[in-house]
Formats: sequence, structure tokens, C-alpha cells
Amino acid sequence: MFRKALLIIFLIGFSVASEKEYEIGKKLVQQYNCLSCHDFSQKRTGPSFTEIAKKYGTGEEAVEQVAKIIINPPSFMPPFKIPLEKAKAIARYVLTEGAKAASKKQKKVYEDDYLDLDSQFH
Ligand code: HEC
Repeated sequence: MFRKALLIIFLIGFSVASEKEYEIGKKLVQQYNCLSCHDFSQKRTGPSFTEIAKKYGTGEEAVEQVAKIIINPPSFMPPFKIPLEKAKAIARYVLTEGAKAASKKQKKVYEDDYLDLDSQFH
């Protein structure tokens, strides 16, 4: 009984913590204007976050890797001299949303195909 209660408290705490990191990531992306050069699903000055999520994945290692790129980009992107924890919150947010945008796009392509097919019968 007691152990169960502890487990539940732990799980709630954990989900609140990751929810909070997601919100922090979202705010920082706005604050640092990432979206002036990146879009979630389309290429702009920089690659889309969907593209970036495809290249690096969305797991813990990808978050770490992308966080380091944000702090110290290898190329044309301006560096963001911020603590790793902040960069990780940003990385997790853009990778998660990038991957989500990818699956939405795929669904849309599928729906468009379906509509085309459908129109052949009318
Ligand atoms: C002034 C425009 C600009 C801003 C602002 C900017 N980026 Fe970029 N970013 C770029 C460009 C351009 C590239 C591609 C560089 C290249 O191709 O070598 C890039 C590349 C990246 C990459 C690496 C992609 C890869 O394939 O390795 C990541 C990750 C990234 N940006 C994330 C971010 C995040 C997160 C922010 C906000 C904190 C941000 N960028 C803000 C222009 C920008």
C-alpha cells in the first residue's frame, strides 16, 4: 500500500517535471527566435525541425547532441551561449515537435492520395 503510494507520487512528479521541461523548451524557442530561421516542417534559412529529428532521432542521445549543436553550431547558425540544461530543453522540444510534424505531413499526403483515388470514380 505504502509502496504503491510512493510509486504513484514518483510517477506524478516525473510527468510534471517533463511537462515543465517541455514548456521551458517551448518558451526558449520563442525567446531565442529559432523560428525566424527554422520551421517545423518546411525548410527556411535553416533545415526544418522535422529534417533535424529525422537526422538525429528523438532519444536522449539526440537531445544531448542537438543541445550541443545549439550552443556551438558547426556552421552558419549563430551560437547560443546558454547552459546545457536550457539547450536540452530546447532540443527536446524541437525534436519532439519536429517528429510530430513529420507524422502529420505523412498523414496529409496519404489523405491527398486517397482523395485523388476517390476522384477517379466520379
Ligand atoms: C539566423 C538564423 C538562425 C537562427 C536564429 C537559428 N538557426 Fe539553427 N540553423 C541555421 C542554419 C542556416 C543552419 C544550417 C547550417 C548548415 O547547413 O551548416 C542551422 C542548423 C541548425 C541545426 C543543425 C542541423 C543539422 O542538420 O545538423 C540545429 C539543431 C538548429 N539549427 C537548431 C536551432 C535552434 C534550436 C535555434 C534556436 C535556439 C536555432 N537553430 C536558431 C540558422 C539559424
